[in-house]
Amino acid sequence: MPVVDVHTHVYPPKYMDLLRSRTAVPYVRSFPDNPAAGDRLVILPAEDTESTSRGRPIGSEYFDIKQKLAFMDQHGIDISVISLANPWLDWLPAESAAATAREINDDVERMCAEHEGRLYAFGTLPLSAPAEEVVAEIERLASIKHMRGVIIGTSGLGSGLDDPKLDPIFAALEKHDQLIFLHPHYGLPTSVFGPRASDYGHVLPLALGFPLETTIAVTRMLLSGVWDRFQSLNVLIAHSGGTLPFLAGRIESCIAHDGHLKSQGAFEGRRSVWDILKRNIYLDAVIYADVGLKAAIEASGADRVMFGTDHPFFPPLGEGEKEWLSVKMNSDAVRSALADDRSAADAVMGGNAVRILKLDR
Ligand code: URA
Ligand code: ZN
Repeated sequence: MPVVDVHTHVYPPKYMDLLRSRTAVPYVRSFPDNPAAGDRLVILPAEDTESTSRGRPIGSEYFDIKQKLAFMDQHGIDISVISLANPWLDWLPAESAAATAREINDDVERMCAEHEGRLYAFGTLPLSAPAEEVVAEIERLASIKHMRGVIIGTSGLGSGLDDPKLDPIFAALEKHDQLIFLHPHYGLPTSVFGPRASDYGHVLPLALGFPLETTIAVTRMLLSGVWDRFQSLNVLIAHSGGTLPFLAGRIESCIAHDGHLKSQGAFEGRRSVWDILKRNIYLDAVIYADVGLKAAIEASGADRVMFGTDHPFFPPLGEGEKEWLSVKMNSDAVRSALADDRSAADAVMGGNAVRILKLDR
């Protein structure tokens, strides 16, 4: 059974050119007052400060596909389904978004074609463009050989994933059987992390901001009836669903006890979170421990959970360390959560991805 990584990012050359041409978030540059720090990737407003050392280091592992393949070989990963990393194209002016998306998607497709059998991809959508242009790119992606869906953030067209203006986009994705890979970027308002947040590096926004952002976005989709209108719309949720498997019961209970929803008639024919988790949602296994992974498996089923690494984020901190702790934590979690079911563990490590994403075509 192959090992497949469904959560692994790249900034293709066209995107790097854009980042290097900018001075506002998101951007890549070095700082003359601190040349030793090298190039820095600054993608969040909260990390664009002196105290956060202006973002994070960025080396060629973020854009050189040869490094992705070397990482895969090093960690026994046979196939990677690569996706553009955050913040995607959310920030582009409406006029240039569609053309840029085409260029970036073609860049990524070229990488896949040059490494036939090892790389597939999730495409990128020009979400700041008018909805017709987004739909046109979905239709184009559907005919590109290595594309297996699209990666999106939680902002939608600017006001979240419960926006009715997204309906034509969801309809096109459903029609072309394209999976949405839903990934966080914006986190929570920095005020919730308190005045000492920057003393704690990136821990609070990454460990808590990201998963809560994801959980809120999915819950808003659910409350607005996205999956009642689009019953075959499939979504792979990053980081084992944020906190969705853990909170699904509470979400259901809050819905069942909400007088406003009841008075609006919003209960009739409503699909439950549990039903959607088992029929529309897939979860990656990027949760770093067996406790969270067991919740994901319990919520969606071992046949709907897929291994991932989040490469090139979370590299080892030690100089010259070859094995990535982040990868080991995720693969150990699969082994431990499914210790008594070897075939389910193999499925999570790759078999599910081959079946769900049709990687044998
Ligand atoms: N940090 C990010 O900004 N993105 C990821 O995907 C992981 C960590
Ligand atoms: Zn990621």
